[in-house]
Amino acid sequence: MSNYHIKHLEEYYQVYRKSVRNPEVFWEEIAEEHFMWRKKWDNVLSWDFTKPEVKWFEGAQLNITENCIDRHLYTRGNKTAIIFEPNDPKESAEHITYKQLHDRVCRFANVLKEKGIKKGDRVCIYLPMIPELAISVLACARIGAIHSVVFAGFSASALATRIKDSECKMVITSDGSFRGSKTIDLKGIVDEALEDCDTIESVLVAKRIDANVNMKSGRDYWLQPLLDEAYHDCEPEIMNAEDPLFILYTSGSTGKPKGMVHTTAGYMVYTAYTFKNVFQYREKDVYWCTADIGWITGHSYIVYGPLCNGATTIMFEGVPSYPDFGRFWEIVEKHKVNQFYTAPTAIRALAKEGVEHLEKHDLSSLKVLGTVGEPINEEAWHWYDDNVGKKKAPIVDTWWQTETGGIMITPIAFATPTKPTYATLPFIGIQPALMDENGKEIKGNQVDGRLCIKFPWPSMARTIWGNHQRYKDTYFSAFENKYFTGDGALRDEVGYYRITGRVDDVIIVSGHNLGTAPIEDAINEHPAVAESAIVGFPHDIKGNALYGYVTLKETGESRNHDNLRKEINQLITEQVGPIAKLDKIQFTAGLPKTRSGKIMRRILRKIACKDTSNLGDTSTLLNPEIVQGIMDEVL
Ligand code: PRX
Repeated sequence: MSNYHIKHLEEYYQVYRKSVRNPEVFWEEIAEEHFMWRKKWDNVLSWDFTKPEVKWFEGAQLNITENCIDRHLYTRGNKTAIIFEPNDPKESAEHITYKQLHDRVCRFANVLKEKGIKKGDRVCIYLPMIPELAISVLACARIGAIHSVVFAGFSASALATRIKDSECKMVITSDGSFRGSKTIDLKGIVDEALEDCDTIESVLVAKRIDANVNMKSGRDYWLQPLLDEAYHDCEPEIMNAEDPLFILYTSGSTGKPKGMVHTTAGYMVYTAYTFKNVFQYREKDVYWCTADIGWITGHSYIVYGPLCNGATTIMFEGVPSYPDFGRFWEIVEKHKVNQFYTAPTAIRALAKEGVEHLEKHDLSSLKVLGTVGEPINEEAWHWYDDNVGKKKAPIVDTWWQTETGGIMITPIAFATPTKPTYATLPFIGIQPALMDENGKEIKGNQVDGRLCIKFPWPSMARTIWGNHQRYKDTYFSAFENKYFTGDGALRDEVGYYRITGRVDDVIIVSGHNLGTAPIEDAINEHPAVAESAIVGFPHDIKGNALYGYVTLKETGESRNHDNLRKEINQLITEQVGPIAKLDKIQFTAGLPKTRSGKIMRRILRKIACKDTSNLGDTSTLLNPEIVQGIMDEVL
């Protein structure tokens, strides 16, 4: 075991204790030892959760791409940084060395500069999982532009909302994308989004599917000719520790999406340190995270964390089911993957197909398995452990959030004994607390409550873009002097944490966070709809699926319900994206409401889950008679 960074549980406890007894000294040592700074910090940490304001490594100067690329050039110049595995297995994989990555990032950065992008400008990236996605992210960071990656499954309207919110100057996209056997017209989606955005000055278009697309003269440019012309070196912009690195949007329970702002130094230190330790990454390992870079998992654990460690990281363009359900295992065998990090929804979808696909492939390279995005059920956990890891590869069930930037509660592979469905122990430096409904911390073990974090960590989001008050209200107001995660959790007899799920109106479908508000807004735009409410209900593969209760205006009552269902899902697809489509839509005469007019989602959730034994007291509702009607017609 001496091969590992943290070798056993006792060592974890020792390091953990040090990290919470004296966080400044601890993080200063990590920052000194592992990174390249243009100037060291004057102060390690200052913080005040009442404002809230948190600053790590203040006074330091750096560029994160020097840490991710330049400093590896002498020692690892010819090592593969990124393996690009295309959607179609017949197309060869591409191996990009650190030297080549340097060249490509620098050229891209020079193209950005030539198109007028400067430090602090926002650049929206709407790309499939092709090398240009990682490269454009790094190119922005190279020149100090703030990237805002929007997952390329979002609709034109969702894209427009995000572009407008952060007033992006540029969009980087492609002529389209491959997804399994389908192609998607990304450029068309961008064109539609831009009809309504007036801050965009230019659009760079990568070629991927050779589609015939409209290029608007003076605005749209093919990327490749610009890259070919660009100079192959680009001096990095020197950034202050707390300069924003990126914005990434996440759904809230109400209102428009929240643009979480992550800053440079703390994010770098924490993602790099967690990557190395949680996955026990060693120099020759090949690491694969199946997420999309459009989500925080891809930002932190495909791009920044791995590259900061000089790792080899795989980017996979395709889906687990194409050309068949053996695709993941074929890739594991082909690239001899050592660490494999995926989501419970993918594990459940693969488990459903049985083990025959697995058995065709040699998975003996796998050393560590990871899971993220939602609670993993016991059955899926065991399937993963038995069949993929053959009981030899520990499962790191990593709990964290877009807002936390990096992994917060997790086993450390080979050091922390795992327990199915438990994310186990706080990572080094993380101080969780469980709170009761009266705002008091619940001490001791074998308890459950609302999960908060009571001390800052380096990669926490610093604000919501353009709305600091909302940041304060959402995360720092529920419990005094604590960051509230929005999740419930329990702590077992040895102090292991199990995340039980969201306690707010965010629903996690296939690992994607969906706020109820934007979906309800989309439904309510249908002319026949009076009102609607969305809840989650258990689904074998997706974890949760969406159940919509829809009340129609009188004029709509005679309409064909099946057609209405299609139209409603079409509206959701257009406004939010296909991931937010409803599995079930029940038309109801009304929605249960409190006397102050608030929809009682708790009751609707129970009905959708067919758990009506204890609905609680409904007599205080404004319209208690509605409940029985809804129960009688539940789908
Ligand atoms: O509810 C938790 C769930 O996903 C939420 C965060 O979603 P997002 O910001 O999209 O980031 C996902 C990737 C980091 C959390 O509030 N969640 C994430 N990981 C786990 C989890 N729930 C249980 N177990 C996990 N390992």
